[in-house]
Amino acid sequence: MSRRLTETRLVVASHNPGKVREIGELIARFGLEAISAGDLGLCEPEETEPTFTGNALIKAHAAAKGANMPALADDSGLCVDALNGEPGVYSARWAGPAKDFRVAMQLVHDGLEKVHAKDAAAHFVCALALAWPDGHAEVFEGKVHGHLVWPPRGTLGFGYDPMFVPEGFQITFGEMPPAQKHAMSHRARAFAKFVEACLG
Ligand code: IMP
Repeated sequence: MSRRLTETRLVVASHNPGKVREIGELIARFGLEAISAGDLGLCEPEETEPTFTGNALIKAHAAAKGANMPALADDSGLCVDALNGEPGVYSARWAGPAKDFRVAMQLVHDGLEKVHAKDAAAHFVCALALAWPDGHAEVFEGKVHGHLVWPPRGTLGFGYDPMFVPEGFQITFGEMPPAQKHAMSHRARAFAKFVEACLG
C-alpha cells in the first residue's frame, strides 16, 4: 500500500527548466503547487546509480531533506535498442556541459550509423520518485516506445524530442503540441501511476 500525499506543495527536484515546466503542468491539475529545487537554491546531487529508479530516488531524497517537504524527482532518458540502451541514464550527459542537445542527437545518429543500424527503435523511460523528509519514498516508472528519425524535426519540447517519433504517429515529439505529448509521454505514464497510488 503506497503512502498518500496529503501536502499541497511539492518540491520538484530538478534544475532542468523543461522538466520542471512539464511536471508543474501535470501536478497543477491536482491542485498541487510545484516549487523548483533550483529556485530554493538546493544543490544537485550526483546521479551515481546505474538505473533511472536509483537516480530518481537519490534526487527525491536529497530535495526532501534539503527543503523539509515532500519532493518529486524524475529521472528519465532515451534508450536506443541498436545502441544497447544508450544513452540511457547518461542521456543528459551526452549533451555535454553546454547541455546542447543538437550535439547529443548527433552522437545518437553517429552511433546508429557506426553500427549500421537498420532499425532505429527507441524508447523514453521515466522513473518518478516521491520522497518525504522522514525518508519514506515511492517510485513509479513509465515508458513510451517509438523510433528515431534524422534530421531532427520540430522546435517544441526539449532534449531528444525532435528525433523521436512515438509509436502510431508520423510526427516527432518536437513537432507535437505539448498537450498531446503530455497525454502519452513516459513522464505522463509514470505520473498516472503516481496519481493512482498517492493522490487517488
Ligand atoms: P536527467 O533525468 O535529468 O538525468 O535527464 C534526462 C535527459 O533525458 C534529459 O536531459 C533529456 O535529454 C532526456 N529526456 C528525458 N525526457 C525527455 C523527453 O520527454 N523528451 C526529450 N528528451 C528527454
